[in-house]
Order: sequence, then structure tokens, then C-alpha cells
Amino acid sequence: MAKIFSGIQPTGIITLGNYLGALKQFVELQKDHETLFCIVDQHAITLPQNPTELRKAIRSLAAIYIAAGLDPNQSVLFVQSDVPAHAQLGWILQCIANLGELERMTQFKDKARGKESVPAGLLTYPPLMAADILLYNTEIVPVGEDQKQHIELTRDLAERFNKKYREIFTIPEAKIPKTGARIKSLQDPTKKMSKSDTNSKATIRILDDEQTIIKKIKSAVTDSEGIVRYDEEHKPGISNLLAIYSLISGKSIPELEKAYIGKGYGDFKHDVALTVAKHLQPLQTKYHTLVQSKELDEILEAGAKKANAIANKTLRKVENAMGMGFRRQ
Ligand code: AQP
Repeated sequence: MAKIFSGIQPTGIITLGNYLGALKQFVELQKDHETLFCIVDQHAITLPQNPTELRKAIRSLAAIYIAAGLDPNQSVLFVQSDVPAHAQLGWILQCIANLGELERMTQFKDKARGKESVPAGLLTYPPLMAADILLYNTEIVPVGEDQKQHIELTRDLAERFNKKYREIFTIPEAKIPKTGARIKSLQDPTKKMSKSDTNSKATIRILDDEQTIIKKIKSAVTDSEGIVRYDEEHKPGISNLLAIYSLISGKSIPELEKAYIGKGYGDFKHDVALTVAKHLQPLQTKYHTLVQSKELDEILEAGAKKANAIANKTLRKVENAMGMGFRRQ
């Protein structure tokens, strides 16, 4: 069974973008793969976080993972900072990476832009992400399109290490969904939908209630043509809503275009909103019973134990190959 690893940052309640680009794939993949899913809190602190909010977001994300269908009996679910080997291998990979290649990462450039003072962790985020993946001999990394460049860097770092020291790392591949890889902001459909967007109307949060979802989708930016058809270049707003509708309903985009011939954007938006709200409702019910439960703590403790056992083995091999430590091998 191929090994799968991925993670999501607890930087606020996840959006429909994170759900469709990443989490929905996780749930589908756990059936026939060996899977580990992480809550990457060390990545979250690359930008300042409020401690109380961060702790809350970690628990929330864990509860959302399970409520969305991740089964702790099938997948290892854990918090990144519970497994010290991530930071340890992250440091080693920082020493393998070059400054130039880190400065070229588009996520670094986007997040650093306009900031007077840029945390160093924002630059060294990709080697830590590479460590997350490489510790578990991961073969497949399900992610949205924005993470493709980081996976390519992970492959480069792994190959560089294997060539220089010893063939320890498995070279992973990104698995990016055909549709849903980049869900767009509802207020600026040329930008991706993002958890940390400060405009609350731009994102649908996975825990938004029906009325909020209706309001947000009704105010989504579209165009004046009045025809429901997919055209990413000229109609990014309607195309984004069609992609969301198609992914949630399981109906194809041509099928949906046909169903709305002669109908206006009002009807279309109303149906998209209701379909999204109905889809999320069972997840939300399950979430509310889980988030404060002791069961959640137990699941994360057990997950950390399993993850530590695998990660420490890889870390020891890497340190040995590099001559770190004093013990003769
Ligand atoms: N808009 C999106 N469409 C599809 N997939 C997306 N992902 C993120 N946004 C979209 C995927 O979600 C997973 C988790 O992302 P992350 O939390 O690790 O960080 P991110 O990619 O930076 O996501 P956000 O929502 O934009 O977070 P913030 O605002 O904190 O930076 C990844 O697989 C990602 O591809």
C-alpha cells in the first residue's frame, strides 16, 4: 500500500478551498493507502498567532478531520509539535537547502510582500515541510495546487541528500485534484480562497451555517453576462462557483451549465449555496460533539505515539549517515 502524508495549518477554521483541495482527497485516499495526516502547528507559527486562538484552532482542525471522515483506526492523526523529529529533520534539510531556492518560493514571496520585518521561519518553511513528508517514507502527498512548488523542492532536497550521503529518502509525488485544486476567493476570483483572508465575505468556512453560506455566495463577485457557463479567463467568479457546485454535488460542469440555461445568477447562486450548506451539515453536527471530547485528546495522543515511532527511525538513519552524534555505528 502506498504511503500518504499531508497536513493543514491550524491558522483559523479551514475554508471550502482547503476542504475541496485537500481534506476531501484525504478521506478518499485513506481507504486503500497507508495514511498519516498532521496538524502542522509549527508551520502556523511562521506568522504571529494568538496562543489561545492557536490552541483552539488545533483542536478544531483535529475535530474537523474526524468529522469529515478521517478514521483514526485507518489513518494516523497527530499534531506536528508532538513529534520533535519534524523540527530536527527540518533543521538538517535547512542545511541542505540553498538560500536562493528558498527565496524563489512563491508562497514566501506572497507572504513576505509588503512586510517591514519578515520572520525567518517564513523562508525556512519549505525544508520543514520537506521534513514532514520525508520522515514517513511518503510516496504520495495530496495537496492543492499552491503547494506544488514546495513538493518539487522536497523532491530536490531528498535527491540531493540521497546522492550525497545514502539512499534513505523515498522521493514523493504530489497528488493534485483535477478540479478543486485552486478554489478562488468569492470577492476576488483571481486569487485563491485562503484561511487567513481578512475579508470574511471572501471565504466559506467549513463551520459556516446555512444562512451565512447563502449570504456569502449571494454576494460573490461574478460578471454581467448573465449566462451560467465555465470560462475561467473571462468568467472567473461563475467558473469558481461551478467548480464548487460540481465537486460537492458530483454533477459534471456541462451537466450544470445545461441545467441553468435560461436561468439567472440568482437561482444558480441560491442552489450552489444550499448544496454546499446541506453537504456540510452532517460534518458540523459531528464536529460539535467531538471538539470538546476527551476522545479527541486520546486520538491525538495515540497518533503522536505512532508517528514518533516511525519518524524517530528515519531521523536516526539520517543522523547516522551524516556522522552526527558520537556513537560508533
Ligand atoms: N483555495 C484553495 N483551493 C484548493 N486547495 C487549497 N489549499 C489551500 N487553499 C486552497 C490546500 O489546503 C491544504 C492546506 O493548506 P495549508 O493550511 O497548509 O496552507 P495554505 O496552502 O497556505 O492554505 P491557506 O488556506 O491559504 O492558509 P493560510 O491562509 O494560513 O496561508 C494544502 O494542501 C493546500 O494546497
